[in-house]
Amino acid sequence: MPDVSSRVSSPIGVFDSGVGGLTVLRALVRALPNEDFVYVGDTARLPYGGKPQAMVRGFAFEWTGELVARGVKAVVVACNTASAAALPDLAAAAPVPVWGVVEPGVAAAVAAHAAHGPDAIVGVLGTAGTIGAGTYQRALAAQGLPAWGRACPLFVPIVEEGVSDGTIARLVAEHYLADRPTELRTLILGCTHYPPLAATLRAVLGPDVALVDSATATAAAVAAALTGLGLARCDGGGGVHHLVTGDLPSYAHVAQVLDGPEGPIEPLPLPLPVRPGWSTAPRTADLVAGPAAVAG
Ligand code: DGL
Repeated sequence: MPDVSSRVSSPIGVFDSGVGGLTVLRALVRALPNEDFVYVGDTARLPYGGKPQAMVRGFAFEWTGELVARGVKAVVVACNTASAAALPDLAAAAPVPVWGVVEPGVAAAVAAHAAHGPDAIVGVLGTAGTIGAGTYQRALAAQGLPAWGRACPLFVPIVEEGVSDGTIARLVAEHYLADRPTELRTLILGCTHYPPLAATLRAVLGPDVALVDSATATAAAVAAALTGLGLARCDGGGGVHHLVTGDLPSYAHVAQVLDGPEGPIEPLPLPLPVRPGWSTAPRTADLVAGPAAVAG
């Protein structure tokens, strides 16, 4: 990675399909008060959760390319669906460090679950894309933990509508959790939109299930990695800049409801300009079968 020291005062790029990533941004701002942040909310293409994985993977490469072109020193993928679809390949391709939310979430769940016996189950709630990708389930299985996953497509609009605490949220949570295993003891909120639903989920699950929100774990992991790379900023900074592909007033409203970090909000019209080759996602088939199969 070229000339790290000259990039210390550059901002950190963060992106999500919309406002959900603001829960991660808030934790990042707390953990790294001297950093500047550029946050992309791709509300024009929300939701990512029900879209094909290859498409979401393309969005993730595209945003990383755009943020790198805008001079960021690192990128945080503040979206589970995009993290599951694009990492680790995105991190390998990009010219700056790229971190997602899945790994820190799994590490936090493993720590929260440590006191339980071998039969206790870790669950993960997420979008259809995240649960379908199986990334969490595989990472948990690799730690020897039995996992249960449930796609919850109605949760994102409920949070965006600002009704996370009401009767509708409660009924939907009961619906999604109705067939949870009785041995469930730890539950990962595997979507950056879900933290506002924590009180509702706790009410449905009762006191025996610990909720894990990867936002704080991600912020701690990013802070440690930045410091390790010599990229952390020690003074100044503290600014947040929002770039939004969809309707600005709706974004501003929901960002306020979610207590997102304040800062100027600017439109970012799609399509984006064409960026360097690495920021075009390789097709999944290319990665699985290799270049020879593409030529054929
Ligand atoms: N915030 C996104 C995530 O963490 C989900 C929202 C969406 O479906 O776009 O997966």
